[in-house]
Amino acid sequence: MTDDRDSSVSTADGFPTGSGGHDPEVLRQRALDALLTARARTATLTDSVDDGELTAQHSPLMSPLVWDLAHIGNQEEQWLLRAVGGREALRPEIDGLYDAFEHPRAARPSLPLLAPAEARTYASDVRGRALDILEGAPLHEGGRPLERAGFAFGMIAQHEQQHDETMLITHQLRTGPVALTAPAPPAPTDAATLPAEVLVPGGPFTMGTSAEPWALDNERPAHRREVAAFHLDTAPVTCGAYRRFIEDGGYTDPRWWAPEGWDMVREHDLAAPLFWYRDAGQWLRRRFGVTEPVPDDEPVLHVSWYEADAYARWAGRRLPTEAEWEKAARHDPATGRSLRYPWGDTDPTPEQANLGQRHLRPARAGAYPAGRAPSGAGQLIGDVWEWTSSDFLPYPGFVAFPYREYSDVFFGPGHKVLRGGSFAVDQVACRGTFRNWDLPVRRQIFSGFRTARDA
Ligand code: AVJ
Ligand code: FE
Repeated sequence: MTDDRDSSVSTADGFPTGSGGHDPEVLRQRALDALLTARARTATLTDSVDDGELTAQHSPLMSPLVWDLAHIGNQEEQWLLRAVGGREALRPEIDGLYDAFEHPRAARPSLPLLAPAEARTYASDVRGRALDILEGAPLHEGGRPLERAGFAFGMIAQHEQQHDETMLITHQLRTGPVALTAPAPPAPTDAATLPAEVLVPGGPFTMGTSAEPWALDNERPAHRREVAAFHLDTAPVTCGAYRRFIEDGGYTDPRWWAPEGWDMVREHDLAAPLFWYRDAGQWLRRRFGVTEPVPDDEPVLHVSWYEADAYARWAGRRLPTEAEWEKAARHDPATGRSLRYPWGDTDPTPEQANLGQRHLRPARAGAYPAGRAPSGAGQLIGDVWEWTSSDFLPYPGFVAFPYREYSDVFFGPGHKVLRGGSFAVDQVACRGTFRNWDLPVRRQIFSGFRTARDA
């Protein structure tokens, strides 16, 4: 098959290497930039509130911000200083405190955590040493798997950015004076003329990747998937559309809900997305400390998988599978290849996607025309994480790397896959193959969805 690039050579998936795909010096610079960008964001998220707020638990679902800060440093120490650099532990006694599997989030505030000043010093001591190690590390092909193509450095930059998104969720849950602000994202230009849905023709495509140097274990390897023809919403479901579901009695009619979803609705008295409430006949929402009217044309945010699933059923549609989502986002019918991003193989620009906490909200539906996929679907990358109908499962040929606790222990029917990233995720941790997952009841995350139907 001419378009099947699923091989272990460097042209796997056919990504061009001209953009520096595997050049060690390009990757060294990219790793340095990614680590510095992540730390700047971590500083903003942790310097924008006082020490009392850093150590407080704003929600039982979340860690205190000071835990995330030291955990970021501790993961970096374990992988870059000890595993790559062969260094001795700086503070071996704290490893257990920052092991996410030893202590559930709700228990973390009562641990003897490093105080804010100590946590900052620890993270920056680790970082200084990590940058020394990066300078001298051999990143060439054929080196140790952790160092090859700068993988461990890219993984740690992604890890920090994932926690920066987690910390932004904590910021959204906290109450009190406004701590973070950002300009509004760009407005849509041609929303009125966009079709409601696009047709993705049937046939095989390449899912996952063997070529992307910093792709995490669950994105690998590239493999062929057959996907039947289907229709997909051009843009994520908006607040206005979701409001019609609410006003049609969506939350009071068990017909639309998976049984466990209906149990959740009744147990918690759910009637709208998280952070929405009704006041004098109007829907309002709280967003990073500001209360504002719910904007009808913005993608809906803070819905659980069960709510997305119920909405889709009410609309006479369904959630897309993970393979459908990725085919709509990456398959290029002109070449038969799968692209790194909907727009091609080049890294995201601010004209193509709403990423990196540049704007603290999704852009209105129809924005980012430069980011659309060959399928015609838009806003697949950035804005809101999109729930898919799929369970989080390993791809054929999956190998846990470098640790089972990143993906392997989460595989199974308990977790649903989300795709595409949100406004809160940085580009280093977001690409056409990137897989996120969560429990189907979760809605504090920056989650939305789009719907599909068979063709
Ligand atoms: C991939 C977002 C589900 O936050 O639980 C952070 C990422 N893994 N530290 C999570 C992660 C280890 C993970 N998610
Ligand atoms: Fe972590």
